[in-house]
This record gives sequence, structure tokens and C-alpha cells, in this order.
Amino acid sequence: MTLLSLKGVSKNFGAIQALTGIDLEIQPGEAVGLMGDNGAGKSTLVKIIAGNFPQSGGSIEIEGRQVQFHKPIDARHAGIEVVYQDLALCDNLTAAANVFLGREIKRRIGPFSYLDHQAMYDRAGELFVELKSETRPRDYVRQMSGGQRQAVAIARTRLSDPKLVLMDEPTAAISVRQVAEVLDLIKRLKETNHAVILISHRMPDVFEVCDRVAVLRRGRKVADKAIAQSTPEEVTGLITGAIEAA
Ligand SMILES: Nc1ncnc2c1ncn2[C@@H]1O[C@H](COP(=O)(O)OP(=O)(O)OP(=O)(O)O)[C@@H](O)[C@H]1O
Ligand SMILES: [Mg+2]
Repeated sequence: MTLLSLKGVSKNFGAIQALTGIDLEIQPGEAVGLMGDNGAGKSTLVKIIAGNFPQSGGSIEIEGRQVQFHKPIDARHAGIEVVYQDLALCDNLTAAANVFLGREIKRRIGPFSYLDHQAMYDRAGELFVELKSETRPRDYVRQMSGGQRQAVAIARTRLSDPKLVLMDEPTAAISVRQVAEVLDLIKRLKETNHAVILISHRMPDVFEVCDRVAVLRRGRKVADKAIAQSTPEEVTGLITGAIEAA
């Protein structure tokens, strides 16, 4: 069954029309690259899917049921997790504390409730092993590389075993080796039947891990096709407008 279906989704911020009539379908276990120039509307679309703000028009269905998210927790309950463009991690906390931020494991002893640090270290450690990342649960995020930070942000999304992970530019600001690690993480998510929407300006990343590519230009979807049926040259043309649509 189709996991996510957007029908005619639009968004305006006052006079700015950020998105117009977006149709988009995502199947379970599928990775879709969302590409487009700066200001094309990619982050806006992801934020609507994640419940950060409502669409101005159109509808969203999850597994065939129409949903209206009022806040991010609504989307999370529907099985959608997000890795934001800025990662939203706390530098002064450990990897494990970041993974569990706002969802801490607590233990009750009589009337008292304690944070169960050991349980969180253990579970975070398992998640990093699953992701084949060398990140250690007790390390502080402030001393981590960009790739390790990504692993923390991605492990965080796995806590609730989501159906769909939205990633906004996960490889924009990291080294070549770390990019490879993040792409491996995305492949691992797919293997475990998680769907991924990957926003990226990096053509090689999209062609390596995505099954489909959707291109936005000035708030409109101008292409949506199988990676195998496109080329980086065609996608570049679609992004810039040299190619009208495909
Ligand atoms: N909160 C907001 N208030 C007003 N306008 C906004 C807001 N968020 C986005 N916009 C506008 O909506 C349009 C789409 O922006 P968006 O951030 O979705 O682009 P993007 O494709 O993610 O770009 P980038 O590649 O630079 O991240 C832009 O014109 C932007 O200025
Ligand atoms: Mg953006």
C-alpha cells in the first residue's frame, strides 16, 4: 500500500507562494530524492509532511487515510521522523542523551522516578551497531565529526521505528568519507523497509541511494521519475529550467 500520498499540496507564506499543487507518492522501503534550487520549496514540503506547519491547500494521506498534522508529534505518531537541515543536536550532551532527548527512559523506584542512563546507553549502543556506525553512546556530541553527528541524528529517528524518514541535506557540510557513511546509513534504512525522502543538492548522492527523483522548481514539481530512467544531466536541466519538465 502507498505509504505517503500528497495530493495538490500548496503553501503560501503571505504573498509568497512556496508550493503549488504538489502530488507525490512514496512506497514503503523506497528512497526518493527531492531536488531543486535554493528556495524551490524542498524544506517547506518536508516541514509540511513533518507537521511543522499546515499546508494551505491539498491533502495528505498515510497508508490511505487522510491526515492533518497540527504539530510535529502528530507526524511522529503517524510514523514520520525527520533529520533537519541543522540536525538539531545538543553539543553539551552525550550521543545517547541526544538520541533520547524528550523520550528519556525512566525507571520508577517507589514514588521516585529516575533517568535510566544505563538503559539509554545500551539502547543507543545497539542502534549505532545496527547502523554500523562507530559512534559511542557516551561521547559528547561537541567533539564529534559531521558524520558521527549524522549517525546520532539518524539513530534518534530509529527509536520509534518510523515508516518514513525525512532528511534535509544530510551530506551538505561533511567530508567525503563521512558522506559515504551517511549514504550507507540511508541504504540500511531502506533494507529495513523504511522509506526515505532525501533532500540534497548533491547529484551523486541521489543517484547512488535513491530509487526515484522528484524535482521542484519555484514551488512546482517538474519531474518525478525512476533514477534508472534519468541522468544527472537531465536532472540538472530540470533544476535550472533548461529542461521545462520530464
Ligand atoms: N517561514 C517562512 N516564512 C516566509 N517564507 C518562507 C518561510 N519558509 C520558507 N519561505 C519561503 O518559501 C520559499 C521556499 O523555501 P524553502 O526553504 O522551502 O526552499 P528550499 O528548496 O528548501 O531551499 P534551500 O535549498 O535553500 O534549502 C522561499 O521563497 C522561502 O523564502
Ligand atoms: Mg531547504
